Amino acid sequence: MMQVALPLRPRKVDGLPGGQLTVFELVDIDSALEEAVRRGGRAPYGGVLWDTAPCVAAVVLDRAPRGRRVLELGCGLGLVSLACARAGASVLATDVEELALEATRRAAAHAGLAVETALFDVADDTPLPACELLVIADLLYEASLATAVARRARAALACGAQVVVGDPGRAGRAAFTAALGGAAVADFAPVVVGGHHADVAVLACRS
Ligand SMILES: C[S@@+](CC[C@H](N)C(=O)[O-])C[C@H]1O[C@@H](n2cnc3c(N)ncnc32)[C@H](O)[C@@H]1O
Repeated sequence: MMQVALPLRPRKVDGLPGGQLTVFELVDIDSALEEAVRRGGRAPYGGVLWDTAPCVAAVVLDRAPRGRRVLELGCGLGLVSLACARAGASVLATDVEELALEATRRAAAHAGLAVETALFDVADDTPLPACELLVIADLLYEASLATAVARRARAALACGAQVVVGDPGRAGRAAFTAALGGAAVADFAPVVVGGHHADVAVLACRS
């Protein structure tokens, strides 16, 4: 497994059902962003805790994840995956960035939780790993990515999984709902957890 030398620091997240969790975020996101721009690489968005993750975690924990196979796309620091693992789910946390997976593994080790991690690109053609609950937090920030997320959500629904999507109001939400097409309805509702705000939808299949 590839290791990434990361300047990460612990950050406690309060207000979650089940109590506080610690994630490991980039010490200096500004420098990491500048470096990514300089190299023409992908921005290290996965190295930051975004408002949506605690909100999605709270909604998912309401849906009794214990004993279920949870798949997280674009896990970033892994907060939703950690919360699900603590609640007794079997969790696969995925992201396109190794940085995010390393941060997630570090947080899981810190908490003594079992969280599997894997590189997974929402936008490519690799089949979606099997899951009973698909969780997605703050991945609708570009129309093309949001459209790819909708394709993954449709695939999960077709296999009988539940899908929970959180979004703080990004530019790609309309593309996401449009790309769900006739498969599902995303009825986003506001959620507040520990001072973090986002809209969260539990997708409902159109019958
Ligand atoms: C705004 S961050 C959200 C992170 C985390 N879900 C949260 O809410 O804190 C977006 C995440 O999506 C990941 N990402 C971006 N494009 C992706 C893709 N094509 N496939 C999988 N993950 C992707 C980024 O690496 C980053 O971790």
